[in-house]
Amino acid sequence: QSDNIPYYALGGKDILEKLVDTFYGKVQVHPLLSPIFPDDLTETARVQKQFLTQFLGGPNLYTEEHGHPMLRARHMPFPITLERAQAWLECMSEAMDEIELEGPIRDYFFERLTQTAYHMVNS
Ligand code: HEM
Repeated sequence: QSDNIPYYALGGKDILEKLVDTFYGKVQVHPLLSPIFPDDLTETARVQKQFLTQFLGGPNLYTEEHGHPMLRARHMPFPITLERAQAWLECMSEAMDEIELEGPIRDYFFERLTQTAYHMVNS
């Protein structure tokens, strides 16, 4: 559980769960994002916690339950424009501010999310 693994450097399970819950609270009320998400984000948040745990080098929770992430393919049913990718990243940045996630680990995490978000653009 050393600090060179981003998942642990971030603070592990509790911090990641707090971040994801705060993030979806913002997604749920965002005018560009809410129309393409389910009304109830409980399951979405559960799966995103699994994914981000693994994305940051923690236990492979997502793959254990769902198989290979294939994120771009799984997002194909949803029209993801550049504006929606930016909105997603804005919600994440605000959530990071709100839970006071700071320093190099925040910068590293946000940079990787930025790359992934732009990769999801399909419309
Ligand atoms: C699922 C939108 C970026 C990870 C979803 C869903 C939507 C969505 C609508 C389906 C939710 C549900 O049915 O429960 C978007 C939009 C993005 C974006 C608009 C803007 C670029 C990302 C990024 C990541 C990510 C950057 C990861 C770093 C996931 C995961 C799922 C998901 C893990 C669940 C996949 C599954 O069903 O197994 N996303 N997403 N998304 N998204 Fe995104």
